[in-house]
Amino acid sequence: MKNRIIFSLLGFALAFSVSAQDLSDKQRAEIEQRIKPVGEVCLEGDNNCSGPAVAAAGGASAGRSGENVYNTACMACHSTGAAGAPKLGDVAGWADRIVKGNDVLYASALDGIAGTGMMAKGGCMNCSDDETKAAVDYMVAGSQ
Ligand code: HEC
Repeated sequence: MKNRIIFSLLGFALAFSVSAQDLSDKQRAEIEQRIKPVGEVCLEGDNNCSGPAVAAAGGASAGRSGENVYNTACMACHSTGAAGAPKLGDVAGWADRIVKGNDVLYASALDGIAGTGMMAKGGCMNCSDDETKAAVDYMVAGSQ
């Protein structure tokens, strides 16, 4: 029984490797493209995701870029304006906030804004302070 399974797996592997050789470079490239992980954005808490969220959780010391953190942790609200979040690129919506200065914006991002959808670090539990600030910088730079 066990052998039968092994043989059929072997047969499959052989058949696959033979047919793989018949593929042109172009076809192979297309297949590689198709079996690549879907998107680089990982949801918070998804430990099976090989993207940036896990890289940081795994102790990467380099730190993620502001854009990277924004895409992972802030975009859900700040790209749509969900719950009244100022949208990335909305110059008018950000103007009143930007005049408060970076320190105030950083504090809002790190501690959250009580009574609003803006949670501490936007709910990103594995974002470092520096990564969160970088995400603020990214949004501010893209909204003025
Ligand atoms: C669940 C939705 C949500 C997520 C996720 C979220 N935000 Fe927010 N954010 C808000 C809302 C809502 C406001 C507006 C709060 C208010 O002033 O009424 C806000 C406001 C802000 C402000 C302006 C603060 C101020 O003092 O005017 C900054 C900066 C900010 N968010 C940064 C971030 C960063 C950085 C992330 C990701 C790490 C993030 N947010 C993720 C909902 C969210």
